[in-house]
Amino acid sequence: MPQRPSAFLVRNLRLLPRGKALDIAAGEGRNALYLARKGFQVDAVDISAEKVATLSGKACQLGLPVRGIVADLETGCQIPPAAYELIICFNYLQRSLFPRIEAGLKSGGVLLYETFTIDQTRFGKPRNPDYLLKHGELKAAFGDLQCLRYWEGIVGNRKAVARMIARKMSTCPDTSGLSERSMLRFGEPGPRPKRRGSRPDRSGCSPAPKNLS
Ligand SMILES: C[S@@+](CC[C@H](N)C(=O)[O-])C[C@H]1O[C@@H](n2cnc3c(N)ncnc32)[C@H](O)[C@@H]1O
Repeated sequence: MPQRPSAFLVRNLRLLPRGKALDIAAGEGRNALYLARKGFQVDAVDISAEKVATLSGKACQLGLPVRGIVADLETGCQIPPAAYELIICFNYLQRSLFPRIEAGLKSGGVLLYETFTIDQTRFGKPRNPDYLLKHGELKAAFGDLQCLRYWEGIVGNRKAVARMIARKMSTCPDTSGLSERSMLRFGEPGPRPKRRGSRPDRSGCSPAPKNLS
């Protein structure tokens, strides 16, 4: 993955309401760090403890408000409902998460999503259809949101993607089917880390928190 923030994100920054943002499958945080520089308070979730440690370290060194969260989005770690002004997801597809993404947006909140389409098989990985959007799928999956931008195509002769920006309107139904009680809450501090693990490193930064479960 490149270290620079997504050009799609940078180009459309003015459409995004400031406040709390969630970066889903954030990797090493190129987009989370960019958003934090632009005034968002960012939760950045990824399954990889190593990547989250890297992004948390960078955020700490730069003094940016990014909270790295190690969590497996496939096995129970939920998105708190109506918690975010902005949710972004790049290069990650987990269809079962769609209702929870929508529910995680505050009214007026915006979803910005970019990931591979089925045409990617012409260029290389991923090839598994579980990780590839069908044509029009992203737009249809978030049909209750107000679509602000939608595009499908080939980027740089090597990447087939769909891109969408959509806003949650106040009349959107709660489609998550999840009760508040079933949530693991991103909004609460995780278990207190053991003293040794929480000691600041040489940069003065503490290690990334572990999974909130
Ligand atoms: C292709 S990378 C994209 C990283 C970032 N969004 C970007 O575009 O720079 C996909 C990311 O998804 C994360 N991931 C894969 N399965 C996951 C899961 N079940 N829960 C949370 N993150 C996951 C990986 O660790 C990896 O960082």
